[in-house]
Amino acid sequence: MALFVPVEAFDLVIFGGTGDLALRKLLPALYHREGDGQVTGKSRIIAVSRGALKRKAYLAMVEKALRENLPAGDFRAEQWAALRRRIHYVQCDALAPGKWGALVDLLAGAEDRVRVAYLSTAPGLFGPIAQGLKRNGLVTPASRIVLEKPLGRDYESACEINDQVGRCFAENRIYRIDHYLGKETVQNLLALRFANSLFEPLWRRGVVDHVQITVAEDLGVGGRIEFYDRIGALRDMVQNHLMQLVCLVAMEAPSSLHHDAVRDEKIKVLRALRPIGGDRIRTHTVRAQYTAGAIDGATVSGYIDELGGAKSRTETFVALKLEIDNWRWSGVPFYVRTGKRLPAKHSEIVVAFRDVPHSIFPAQSYELQSNRLTIRLQPDEGVELSVMAKRPGPGSFELHPVSLDLSFEETFGIRYPDAYERLLMEVLRGNPALFMRRDEVEAAWHWIDAIVAGWEEHNQKVESYVAGSWGPSGASTMLDRDGRNWQPES
Ligand code: BG6
Repeated sequence: MALFVPVEAFDLVIFGGTGDLALRKLLPALYHREGDGQVTGKSRIIAVSRGALKRKAYLAMVEKALRENLPAGDFRAEQWAALRRRIHYVQCDALAPGKWGALVDLLAGAEDRVRVAYLSTAPGLFGPIAQGLKRNGLVTPASRIVLEKPLGRDYESACEINDQVGRCFAENRIYRIDHYLGKETVQNLLALRFANSLFEPLWRRGVVDHVQITVAEDLGVGGRIEFYDRIGALRDMVQNHLMQLVCLVAMEAPSSLHHDAVRDEKIKVLRALRPIGGDRIRTHTVRAQYTAGAIDGATVSGYIDELGGAKSRTETFVALKLEIDNWRWSGVPFYVRTGKRLPAKHSEIVVAFRDVPHSIFPAQSYELQSNRLTIRLQPDEGVELSVMAKRPGPGSFELHPVSLDLSFEETFGIRYPDAYERLLMEVLRGNPALFMRRDEVEAAWHWIDAIVAGWEEHNQKVESYVAGSWGPSGASTMLDRDGRNWQPES
């Protein structure tokens, strides 16, 4: 049985309350937490948007979204009734100073409660909304603000947002979301590394040959194509999710789980990343875009067709070779790749160990494979260690790779909560450990900006890959040059 600790009564104000994230992720997450009794007392969920909607119409919208987004059979009338009584809808144009009255009225008298403003809006609104909250006297001592990604589109815009929001909220009241940090398996990385003594002596240069991180999606860009076309995979996925995964794999042990202890270690990794510029743009980066193909037998269009035929050099796939300049990781490459319209939704971290220094077995007796520790993030979350074993039999001494495979779902036998369930509860509890600190976000942008600039400067080719394949040939070539290959075979 999982343990659910109730959070104290709160007012959660969701700006962008009619948006995709609110309806598809935040409200289903709150529905589950309601069901497990974590939402208590007279807690309120206040959806804010510019549209003139009656509460009844908004509730109908939420109910429809829950029915569509919850796993089959999870929608229960009584659980929905408990949640719906908490939901309010307020019309507010965040950019119009005179239009905050309804929100001010609704929050009046609840100054002692935990108050969270969740900004599920375009990043350009983060500053104005923070200022609006402050100007209207809505920032109480117990207030927190949550910023959804993307936090800007480069270092400069991220700093500007951070400055604007920072004028209204203290840093420890600002929760910058990277939903990968809320995933159970990502947190399990901390448990794997720091609750077991087994791995620590092996987790370093000299023992580890290289690390691979793959975050593959079979989905395309869908309804977000206009937004995505301005962003691309490097900013959408690498700057945040993949770099956070690199940090969790590469960081030193923090002295505790205190939020600053963990974040202090992550920032050291970001600062130790060797910048990718100059000639290394060609050898250390690959960018590509999908063309029409087929996934699971269904034909899918290419990116340009989805864009309506417009010209675009936006990447839907990125592969990078990262180098970390510190004692632990010097000389150990971290290869990362992510893409849309790959064969499956499949995310994993592979720690590949070095070959044995000398083999005592006759060459014909094995197909020697180095040991690999695979941390499967999704689907089928778990950990797998591949080792060489002798095939049973009295005759020859035949070696084969076998797996010690642990599936978390089978082991723990519980539903894996969505990352937002965890993250929302952490904000309400006031624990920022799973959120990004200002310096982390800015350091990540700084490193990414150099790649964007290098791509422009060197007119780096945008390769193509057929939807349903494992990406462009350049991604395999990048590893071939180092005598390595991606897992699973691309
Ligand atoms: C989001 C990206 O941050 O993460 C999306 O903006 C991407 O483009 C999504 O699809 C992937 O998240 P998950 O949890 O489905 O792996």
